[in-house]
Order: sequence, then C-alpha cells, then structure tokens
Amino acid sequence: MRLILLGPPGAGKGTQAAVLSKDYSMPHISTGQILREAVEKKTSTGNTAKGFMDKGELVPDEIVSKMVAERLAEKDTKNGFILDGFPRNKNQAIQLDEQLKIINVKIDFVLYFKTSETTAIKRLTGRRVCPKCGLNYHTVNRPPKHDNACDMCRTLLIQRLDDNEETIRNRFKVYQDQTTPLLDYYSQTGYFKEICGDLGVNGLNKKLEELFKAEHIT
Ligand code: AP5
Repeated sequence: MRLILLGPPGAGKGTQAAVLSKDYSMPHISTGQILREAVEKKTSTGNTAKGFMDKGELVPDEIVSKMVAERLAEKDTKNGFILDGFPRNKNQAIQLDEQLKIINVKIDFVLYFKTSETTAIKRLTGRRVCPKCGLNYHTVNRPPKHDNACDMCRTLLIQRLDDNEETIRNRFKVYQDQTTPLLDYYSQTGYFKEICGDLGVNGLNKKLEELFKAEHIT
C-alpha cells in the first residue's frame, strides 16, 4: 500500500504512520524526521534546513524533493510506503508525481486528517519525543509510564524546538498558505479520503482500518 498523509501540524500524521508502518510492514517516510536527523548530524542539508525549521518555514523544495526521491529509490519501498509531511505544496506534489512515474508506482490513498487548530495546538504543546528511538508521547493524552522517560529505551524525553507557541502558530500559517491548496489538487483524484483528525489515537486508527477493509486492503 502507498499512502500520503496530509493534515496540519499536530493532526496525528506521525502517530498513525508509526502504527500503520508496524501493522502493514511498510516504511514510514517522514520528511520532518529525516530533516531533524540531518540537523542533528550537522550535514550540509541539515545546516541549511535548520534556519527554516526553527522558524516553522518550509525547507526549500529542491532539497526536500531530492531527499524523498532518494528515499523512494531504496529497496524497502518496493511493496509500499507512507509519506508523512510530504508533499507540502503544489510544486512538491508535481515533483512527486514525476518521481512516481519514473519508478512506475501509483498512490493508493491520500489520507487527509481534518483537524481543528485548537485540538492540534493542545497536542503540539504537550508533545514529548524520545530523541533516541523517536517515539511520540503527550503529557496528557499519552504520558510515558515512567517519569518523563521513554517506555522503550528509558531515554529522557525532550520537547521539539519548533513546538513552542510562536513557532506552532507560524507552522499553521504556513500550512494554511502553502499546504491547503493540495486539498484541491488531490480531491480531484479518486484516492483522496478525508478522515476526522479530532478523534483519539485509537478512534482514528479504527477509522483507517475500516477504510482499508472497505477497499479490500489487508
Ligand atoms: P514535521 O515533522 O512534518 O512537522 P508537522 O507537519 O508540523 O507535523 P507534526 O509532526 O508536528 O504533527 P503530526 O501530525 O505528525 O502529529 P503527531 O502524530 O506527532 O515537519 C517539521 C518541519 O520540517 C517543518 O516545519 C518544515 O520546516 C520541515 N519540513 C518537513 N517536511 C517538509 C516538506 N515536505 N517541505 C518543506 N519543509 C518540510 O502528534 C502530535 C502530538 O499529539 C503527539 O504528542 C501525539 O502523542 C498526540 N496525538 C497524536 N494523535 C493524537 C490523537 N488522535 N488524539 C490525541 N492525541 C494525539
């Protein structure tokens, strides 16, 4: 199965992608995560991306599209993949379409998690992440079992640098201005599906399972 997850910051794209990736054995390709790793390693891409990410702006298309094209060329994407956070504007969507033609694959679903700004802001301000294994927590909705430590590896959880209120608001503005035109772009295809992103983690996952079942995807 080949999926694109679309939705505002905090819609729950990364959380659902992690579950689906495990359940359906397909790689979770998060452009945000790939960029954060590049920033951490201080690669030239990471050094360029950092300034944009810290402000909640989009990293230039040529950097991100190239990164995704390289990732899609890897063997583990042969039977499916989940794109989380890409494409994020019309130019990236066109570049992705071109890349998919080259590798001769088609997208099964663009899943749009329609989420209110109030819900998303509550989720983002409470989000905590494990810097080692990338697991996602929330201070209220999904607290770790042990005080501020990852359930899996016990590493101390951190708050993402762009999860402060000012940057969150800018990420929303960028989403409205640059990403929402993609709703029109994809809604004309037969594979665009809108899902209520305000549901809880399990409720949202259940909706996705129902959708796959109805479409005979196992
Ligand atoms: P990215 O990492 O993609 O951030 P984002 O799009 O802002 O998305 P988030 O990770 O904030 O939200 P999410 O929907 O994944 O929510 P999550 O599941 O984590 O991008 C970061 C930056 O990188 C960008 O600002 C940009 O600079 C750059 N970038 C990335 N891609 C790019 C591109 N294509 N082009 C250019 N630049 C790019 O959940 C959030 C919280 O809510 C968690 O705490 C979670 O536990 C909780 N939660 C999740 N689901 C639920 C639920 N259903 N109910 C209750 N709580 C929930």
